[in-house]
Amino acid sequence: MIKYYFQFLFASKNEHSLHSPFVFELYTKIIQSKTQFPVFLSIENLRKKLFKNRSIINITDFGAGSRIYKTNQREIRQIAKSAEKNPKFGKLIFRLIQHFKPSTIFDLGTSLGITTIYESKAYESSKISTFEGCPATAKLARENFEELDCKNIEIIVGNIDETLAQKLAQIKQLDFAFFDANHRYEPTVKYFEMCLKKATEKSVFVFDDIHWSAEMHEAWQVIKNHPTVMISIDLFYVGLVFFRKNQPKQDFILRF
Ligand SMILES: C[S@@+](CC[C@H](N)C(=O)[O-])C[C@H]1O[C@@H](n2cnc3c(N)ncnc32)[C@H](O)[C@@H]1O
Repeated sequence: MIKYYFQFLFASKNEHSLHSPFVFELYTKIIQSKTQFPVFLSIENLRKKLFKNRSIINITDFGAGSRIYKTNQREIRQIAKSAEKNPKFGKLIFRLIQHFKPSTIFDLGTSLGITTIYESKAYESSKISTFEGCPATAKLARENFEELDCKNIEIIVGNIDETLAQKLAQIKQLDFAFFDANHRYEPTVKYFEMCLKKATEKSVFVFDDIHWSAEMHEAWQVIKNHPTVMISIDLFYVGLVFFRKNQPKQDFILRF
């Protein structure tokens, strides 16, 4: 990750390099926005509560595993600290959803549901399907959704390898997807290709941890070079892709 970070620092640019009006507007008004919304405080208070929770659960891991913990026993506060995206990214996803107003959202990798709550509160008319393999973690996420009164979330418990195809078959189009489940090359590319079948020209896909490992870095190369992807934006910890037609294919590496 350190090697990729230095490459990123060297290649990344700011708004002065942007000639695409779409990306300029997105970067300056949405990605870099510092606007705070009252609901952020409620979500971050929930996170603080989870940070103090020493109850232990047994986790079922279908993903790339933890780099820190070697057993499947976890304190809730450890999950909250290691698995959840930090506030900066939750707020970014909130702003993207508030801006694009996607009707259908897939959230791959719920964990305790903090980012899912940001998605839910950003646009309450959206319908969110969030996918989690671990039943004990999913139970906690459900409690968190209830605590913050999120009414537009359906949680799908099971291995995404099996649940994603079933859920995709039930929807007409997928407007927004956040990929934050199994941080390996093969599942990342496979889930992307599956979701692509329901993407439209206006869909937005966000990939987490695109330089977390050599495998994820490789998966990001495949995704951004895919012929259907017209705009890709690398913000180092996350990558955004857009399918807007009638414009040249472009890749941006931007500081965030
Ligand atoms: C990094 S955490 C997600 C964090 C969450 N998106 C957030 O920001 O709050 C990844 C989650 O994906 C789940 N997961 C990984 N691989 C999975 C799979 N194949 N099927 C279902 N869930 C999976 C893990 O159990 C874990 O809870």
